[in-house]
Parts: sequence; structure tokens; C-alpha cells
Amino acid sequence: MDKLLIQGGNRLAGEISISGAKNAALPILCAGLLTADTVQLSNVPHLQDVATMLKLLRQMGLRVEQEGNTVALNGRAVDKLEAPYEMVKTMRAAILVLGPLVARFGEAKVSLPGGCAIGSRPVDQHIKGLQAMGAEITIEAGYIHAKAKRLKGTRVVTDMITVTGTENLLMAATLADGETVLENAAREPEVADLANLLVAMGARIDGIGSDRLVVQGVEQLHGASHAVISDRIETGTFLCAVAAAGGDVTLKNARTNILDVALDKLREAGVIITSGDNWIRVQMAARPKAVTFRTTEYPGFPTDMQAQFMALNSIAEGGSRVTETIFENRFMHVQELNRLGASIGIEGHTAIIQGVDKLVGAPVMATDLRASASLVIAALAAQGETLIDRIYHLDRGYDRMEEKLSAVGADIRRVK
Ligand code: EPU
Repeated sequence: MDKLLIQGGNRLAGEISISGAKNAALPILCAGLLTADTVQLSNVPHLQDVATMLKLLRQMGLRVEQEGNTVALNGRAVDKLEAPYEMVKTMRAAILVLGPLVARFGEAKVSLPGGCAIGSRPVDQHIKGLQAMGAEITIEAGYIHAKAKRLKGTRVVTDMITVTGTENLLMAATLADGETVLENAAREPEVADLANLLVAMGARIDGIGSDRLVVQGVEQLHGASHAVISDRIETGTFLCAVAAAGGDVTLKNARTNILDVALDKLREAGVIITSGDNWIRVQMAARPKAVTFRTTEYPGFPTDMQAQFMALNSIAEGGSRVTETIFENRFMHVQELNRLGASIGIEGHTAIIQGVDKLVGAPVMATDLRASASLVIAALAAQGETLIDRIYHLDRGYDRMEEKLSAVGADIRRVK
């Protein structure tokens, strides 16, 4: 199993190019199931989760041609309408094939994902929405079986805001009979990116970027080309890395307008941020100041940045409180950060952090994707050597992170 060996203390300087967004690429790849034509994608990141999704889609009969960061999908020969447990258990986003399959083929069999390291994460809202659209759904032997002659447009109000739930129902609605209104829809930029591709494929969607998506179903969708938006969480992760380690780095292919709250928090922490259309420059020369926040749905503070900011708060001047409101168990990194010398306690859904002067390197264990990123950030700022085990979590969602960091001066190396 690969590990990361990081010698902390280096200042970071130079340029990093941001990849396409994981959480946009995954639903977008599933949209390839909605048409018999070719969907041509660019800016697709090199990630384990993308590889897993492509493997699943190939198993279903989707033709996939991949070259560098481009992927061409052709759904003419899709004939296996199933996502098996082996796939869904390694990547929950596989649930995103459910909506497209029922919509285009009238049938799907998708394994229930089960729990994961950050919480129980049920998919009841995906099911509720499809049922409202007329799908007959049974759960048997751990699988969701969905059937519908043709889905029918309707009004769906989800109990809570769900990102992949909105994406699944949105894809389903594009081919439904009549109008579907998705109320309480997720406003994440990744949902909007998917919606923009669907429109390019002939879908009729109003309200993109809002919490009310109105979809007029069409008989069929056609091929299209689309570039995946840049990854705001990867961007935020590198910003935190520079804020923690100190330095001067310009992030290219990065967008500021989808990261507002996190950027405000970094400024509050004393980080200097300047930006243009597709770049962000981050400069940090002092010790960061502690920042208090609570995670909420977009456009609030993203739960996917919580762990990275916690690493920053660990070495900040002063105390802070971080409240997680999206997932019930997303504090697995706390124990590991404390192993590096951080002073963090947990009270319910709030972590209470007292900034320390320095962290000291130690062997630590990655528990999930963003927790791994927080350990990398902490290790870059720590004195001495940190060995991070189980970095397959990191490979799921970051495109060559250690290469990008070593190019700006970090002492980071992958060991077998
Ligand atoms: N929820 C339900 N029932 C549902 C759906 C969601 O109870 O049917 C709950 C969840 O358990 C959670 C909350 O609603 O407590 C929000 O979950 P959501 O459905 O929005 O999360 P998701 O769609 O499974 C996506 C991202 C996550 C990100 C969350 C929140 C993808 C592939 N994944 O997950 O990304 O944290 O939205 O923004 O888009 C990551 O990249 O590290 C990651 C975990």
C-alpha cells in the first residue's frame, strides 16, 4: 500500500495547475448513459474515482475512449443495467447511474451504498424522487430495483438538500414525460456544470444554479461537447497548504467565484489573495489567525474543505470552533491531527481547536479523502517527518497531488 513521506517546513513557491472537478466529472460521466450519441468531455481529472466510474460504465456497455484529459463516451450499446455492490461499495457516486438508466431504459438495478467513514449517507431521497416520478422501486438483497415505462414529470421536494440526489433526479427528469420541478435542489457549481452539459445535449432546464430546477422532459437527448469545471475543493486545498506552510503560489485554471466563503475565511486568517479570471495567487508570510466557521450547503462553507481548514487552525494564533452540519461523523482527522501535536477536542458536531506553536511529524493514517488532504497540509507545516498511511483515499480525489506539491518546493514523496 502506498504511503506519503513528507518532510515539513518548506516554504511553497511557484505555480500549480488545477484539474477538473471530481464531483462534476462523476455525474457528467453518468450523463453519457442518457444518449445513444457521443458525449465528448475535456478537462476530466486523472483520479481513481474517475477510473472506477469508467470501469463501471464500460461494464454496462458504454464505449469509452480516453486520451489524456479527454473522454469520449458512446451509449449506443449499453445493455447491462446494473451497478454491482463491488463497485458501489468502493465509490458511492456509482448511485448516479440510477437516474439515467431508469430514464432511458426504464429499468435499473443498483446496489445500496451502505455507510461510509463520514456518516450513514442514505439514498432515500434519490428513491423518493424517482418514485414520485412514477418509478416502481423495490429493495431486495441489498439492491435497488427500479422500473418505469416512462418517468412522468412531477414536483419533487426533497427533505434535505442533496447533491447527488439532485443530480440523479435532474438526469432522470430530462427524459421524463412532461414537466418536473425539483424544489430544495442543491446549488453546488458541480450540479450546474452537469445541468449545462445536459442542456448542450438537448435537455430543457430552467433555474440552473438555483434551488428550483424546472425541467421539460424531451423524447431523447443527443451528443455534445463539454469541459468539466475546475475543482474548487482542490483549489481550496492548495490554498490551505500555502496558508499553513507559508509561501507564494499561483493557482492556474482556478476560479474564485465558486469559493467565496472559503476565500473570505482565508483572508480572515491573514492570507493575501489576489485573483484574475482563471487564476488565484496566494501569499502567506505570517502565522495564520484562527477562524471559526460552520459547514453548510453551497454557497456556504463547504464540508469538503472542513478538514483542510482544521489543519490550518491547528497551527493558528488563537482558538476556533468548527461545526460540521452536513455529515454526522466527519471528524476522523481530529485524532490524527492530535497525533501531530494539535490540540483539538470534539463536543457533538463542533470541534474546538486551540492553535499550537508547532506540529511535529509522526506516522498518521488517512481515513477518508478530505481527511487525507488535511494530514498533508498539517505535515507540510510540521517540523520533521510525517508518514501518511492509506493514501489510496487521496488518490481517489486528487490528481497527482504529490507531484503538484513537490513542483512548488514541498519535500513530499510516495513510498511503497
Ligand atoms: N442524505 C440523506 N438522504 C439522501 C441523500 C442525502 O439523508 O437521500 C443526507 C446525507 O447523509 C448527508 C446530507 O444529506 O448528511 C448531504 O448529502 P449529499 O447527498 O448532498 O452528499 P452526496 O451527494 O452523497 C456530495 C459529494 C461529497 C460532498 C457532499 C456534500 C459527490 C460525488 N460527492 O455527496 O463529496 O461532501 O455532496 O457537499 O458529489 C468529497 O468529495 O470528499 C465528498 C464526500
